[in-house]
Amino acid sequence: MGRWQSAVADMVSGPRAGAVDPAFWAGKRVFLTGHTGFKGSWMALWLQQMGAQLTGFALAPPTSPALFEVAAVAAGMTSIIGDIRDRETLEAALLSADPEIVIHMAAQPLVRASYDDPVGTYATNVMGTVHLLEAVRKAPSVCATCVVTTDKCYENREWVWGYREDEAMGGHDPYSNSKGCAELVTSAYRRSFFTGDDRCAIGSGRAGNVIGGGDWAADRLIPDILRAVSDGEPVLIRNPLATRPWQHVLEPLSGYLVLCQALWADRAAAAQAWNFGPRDDDAQPVQWIVERMCERWGDGAGWTRDESVQPHEANYLKLDISKARAGLGWQPRWSLSDTLDSIVAWHRAWRSGADMNAYCLDELARFARAGHPLAVQDRSDDH
Ligand SMILES: NC(=O)c1ccc[n+]([C@@H]2O[C@H](COP(=O)([O-])OP(=O)(O)OC[C@H]3O[C@@H](n4cnc5c(N)ncnc54)[C@H](O)[C@@H]3O)[C@@H](O)[C@H]2O)c1
Repeated sequence: MGRWQSAVADMVSGPRAGAVDPAFWAGKRVFLTGHTGFKGSWMALWLQQMGAQLTGFALAPPTSPALFEVAAVAAGMTSIIGDIRDRETLEAALLSADPEIVIHMAAQPLVRASYDDPVGTYATNVMGTVHLLEAVRKAPSVCATCVVTTDKCYENREWVWGYREDEAMGGHDPYSNSKGCAELVTSAYRRSFFTGDDRCAIGSGRAGNVIGGGDWAADRLIPDILRAVSDGEPVLIRNPLATRPWQHVLEPLSGYLVLCQALWADRAAAAQAWNFGPRDDDAQPVQWIVERMCERWGDGAGWTRDESVQPHEANYLKLDISKARAGLGWQPRWSLSDTLDSIVAWHRAWRSGADMNAYCLDELARFARAGHPLAVQDRSDDH
């Protein structure tokens, strides 16, 4: 067992190994970028539920509707609307929040939008990360920082194996490549400025394709499906055989939170990159997802292939999560089937005018009750 494995696994062993610990987060001062987005809104609600003192920094919500508004996320936090490309404003906001923990999620997160605006994508995803880490350098209060990147940061070889954390960064399109660059920036900052016991510990989290209630982004599979079936139209699918590591949004968020806990407890061992993907059998082709979503929706929902010419997107992408399992005790909790059920239920609740703040808090509580991660390990090992 390597240094990181033994040290971090010892730290997280015990009955709550790998789980998010609400007692840890209660009262913590947290600075979250990207809090107006899909993942950021869920993260903000989770941190609020655990009693963190939360400051968010992001542009206005990127979609309309947006989970940020639908679930009244701003009500439980200090929300700052600002641009991470503007170093001084970001730095002033971070220093005045005086955070103990920083979670960096703000990004231009869409492959297709990155073909339309490569310069803006690199400015936000690469220089935005540089600006964030510069601000952290100047903030003595910060003990742990988690930089959120993606499974697409790896050089994609279109092979069937999951990528491991020590494989080469790459990326065919500007989005994927900008996230590979953000990983390299994070690694360089860690080695150049954040070594030594008195410095903030910096880790990065690489998640799979995240799905869940409250995503209205353009050109993403689940929002595209829900828009089409709600309008009684067939879902247009670009690449039915493309395989992705699908996971419920709360899965990688739990990974980022557990990583922050580990960075706090054992900075040297946890300060590195971690994959937070689904179980191996939840990397499924797009067609598998769309068929099951249509079945769940009912009302004659169906799909058809979009034959128009499309920019390049990877066909095969999987993450190896052995390191997070062994080193952080982290495990995925919900199966893909549970996840699709929860998305359809979430969307129906929203359409029926439910209180979506309360609904999201209930979903968070359900996720937390979903059994100890090791129970999931036992089940998956039965296959
Ligand atoms: N959704 C996924 O499938 C997925 C998968 C892996 C990684 N990620 C990563 O997770 C993070 C969040 O993604 P998401 O799906 O919630 O995206 P999103 O588009 O819903 O949210 C992006 C957030 O970043 C903010 N933002 C964008 N540009 C900004 C700028 N210049 N200055 C300040 N804020 C800015 C937006 O306002 C928003 O709050 C991103 O870093 C993304 O790359 C997402």
